[in-house]
Amino acid sequence: MQKSRRWTISFIAAAAAVALTGAWAYSQMPVPPDFQLTQTKDYTPVTFSHKKHAVKNPDCTVCHVKIFQMKKGTTIPGKPFLIADMMAGKYCGTCHNGQKAFAVAECVKCHPKK
Ligand code: HEC
Ligand code: HEC
Ligand code: HEC
Repeated sequence: MQKSRRWTISFIAAAAAVALTGAWAYSQMPVPPDFQLTQTKDYTPVTFSHKKHAVKNPDCTVCHVKIFQMKKGTTIPGKPFLIADMMAGKYCGTCHNGQKAFAVAECVKCHPKK
């Protein structure tokens, strides 16, 4: 009994250590300022705001690196996210599906009119 309890405790401690190391790595990073995604030539540039996404350490893992790489323009190097992919629930469309957040169909919310 005693022995298996000790095992359980050390297992939990090890799992917590792994989880905390990930959180710690992100907690060392500043939340980046707003930036523009400018690879789209045929439509207005899109501003992405970490702040407006109410991002807090260590929430970073919601997007990084499951959905987006942690360097501007590197998730799909040299190419913008395709609107067709977002409509199909990828990239911004993971959340912008009209349920978790406003739908990709609401173009001007991301591409302000010139
Ligand atoms: C809602 C999704 C989302 C969350 C949550 C998020 N990010 Fe990002 N982050 C992005 C996107 C989108 C990019 C740009 C990726 C690209 O262009 O390929 C990015 C890029 C970055 C970059 C690179 C900026 C540059 O100028 O190259 C850093 C650094 C970064 N994120 C840090 C963080 C940190 C730290 C957190 C948590 C505090 C966080 N991110 C949470 C979406 C997110
Ligand atoms: C949730 C935000 C968001 C919404 C809403 C949105 N877009 Fe985009 N769109 C983006 C991002 C981000 C990119 C990639 C920007 C970059 O990398 O330069 C993009 C890229 C594009 C591109 C270039 C890539 C391609 O597929 O040819 C076009 C065209 C485009 N959007 C049109 C639209 C239209 C039309 C709508 C409405 C039906 C729309 N967008 C709605 C965020 C959005
Ligand atoms: C992890 C989920 C998630 C992802 C991924 C995500 N968003 Fe959002 N976004 C949200 C939520 C939630 C809101 C706030 C609710 C709403 O406005 O519907 C929001 C709000 C916004 C807003 C409105 C901000 C304001 O002015 O209040 C813009 C613009 C936006 N997102 C653009 C983007 C773009 C561009 C991408 C991809 C590069 C993206 N989002 C990816 C969840 C996400």
